[in-house]
Amino acid sequence: MPILLKNGRVVTADSDAVCDILVEGEIIAALGRNLPANGAEVIDCTGKIVVPGGIDPHVHLEMPFMGTFSSDTYETGTRAALHGGTTTVIDFILQKQGHSLRSALEEWQGRATGNAVGDYGFHMAVTNFNPGTKEEIKEIMAEGITSFKTFMAYKGALMIDDAQMVGLMAEVKKHGGLVTAHATNGDLIDTLVAQHRAQGLLTPLYHYRSQPEVTEAEASGRFADIANYTGVQAYIVHLTCEGALNQVRRATERNQRVLVETCIQYLLLDASRYEDAAKGAQVVMSPPLREKKDQATLWAGINQGLVNVLGTDHCPFMWEQKLLGKEDFSKIPNGHPAVEHRVELLFSEGVNKGRITLNKFVEITSTNAAKIFGMFPRKGTISIGADADLVIIDPNKTHIISAATHHMNCDYSAYEGWELTGKVDTVLLRGKVAIDAGKAKVGRGYGQFIRRGKPNF
Ligand code: URP
Ligand code: ZN
Ligand code: ZN
Ligand code: ZN
Repeated sequence: MPILLKNGRVVTADSDAVCDILVEGEIIAALGRNLPANGAEVIDCTGKIVVPGGIDPHVHLEMPFMGTFSSDTYETGTRAALHGGTTTVIDFILQKQGHSLRSALEEWQGRATGNAVGDYGFHMAVTNFNPGTKEEIKEIMAEGITSFKTFMAYKGALMIDDAQMVGLMAEVKKHGGLVTAHATNGDLIDTLVAQHRAQGLLTPLYHYRSQPEVTEAEASGRFADIANYTGVQAYIVHLTCEGALNQVRRATERNQRVLVETCIQYLLLDASRYEDAAKGAQVVMSPPLREKKDQATLWAGINQGLVNVLGTDHCPFMWEQKLLGKEDFSKIPNGHPAVEHRVELLFSEGVNKGRITLNKFVEITSTNAAKIFGMFPRKGTISIGADADLVIIDPNKTHIISAATHHMNCDYSAYEGWELTGKVDTVLLRGKVAIDAGKAKVGRGYGQFIRRGKPNF
């Protein structure tokens, strides 16, 4: 049955008007005032805001990491995302060093296929660039995986050196793809970790102290420089701080555009969390939370157009898993749960508090990621012919975040007890009501793999 969304305030990255949206099958069939119902199921959106489905381009579902697996599966993670208005996530495939990209793709497909509730795509993390990998780049792009991730840290597990970086960038450039980086200096971090451990400084605070701003600023600048040399389009994931953003600003002075993603936690949480030795492990992630001045830089960077995308780096571990590092911060699995609350947190803390406009909110939670990662205009906007991925937000409804009520498979939340204003009421994914009044209406297997095109931003 067609669905008619009546009288919502429909907001995209560049428009804002009260109108109706007619959904037929999986797509948006018509937009306009006073559209006739003609037997469609009517959803009254009076007083509500309707935005394109959120896209979180940075999640880690069921990822093998630091001797364990992140605790959300494709099913639980994408369902939690839908609850919070995120209809598409992009997850990271990790090449195993010494193995092919194809074998990693098959491993990830094995976990995802038939299990996701919401839509998903993949990035390919190249952890070992060699002549064999080089041959595979074109083939991986043909699978609809057009962004390649590099790690400049996690030596011995994921990190590549600059020689591999140059080679990868040159190859990806040839095929019109994008190279992204976890841009922190792995050698410098490992040196600081070793120093702290040698001194018996083992609490979560020393996770933070082992990754000072310079470790991120240096690698961000180096990544931008190598990208400029090769001419590839560069994108920095989870950028957290002033020093790193200044490197991006510097790149603009030679007319290079380095795309930037930050994550919701870097806007809202700060490093004082690490002073709590008992609970600090909840927010052990890399890069770590920063200072208030960095939060201010990031909010400004969003409005300056330097920060393009908001992700989460959703990588949850149960508390029991975090306790692997009870005696030593360097053994705490890095990551935290966030995919469910990115949209509502940004609405409440960003839009309601006057830091960003509603259009900007849509731009950084959905539209820019769709363009950068080759899904626009199928995803990321509200237009005729686009997927009917729609989020209806009640701007005045308040609610409180708690691990007791969230849908992520994690037994704590960094935002426990936060009261938010603005709540996701109803979510449509490809024309189906996926979430209504807090209940999931689509099940395991509804989520589809999205074959992405080349970046177009
Ligand atoms: O702490 C983090 N970020 N864990 C996930 C892996 C990564 O670096 O993105
Ligand atoms: Zn919520
Ligand atoms: Zn990372
Ligand atoms: Zn990550």
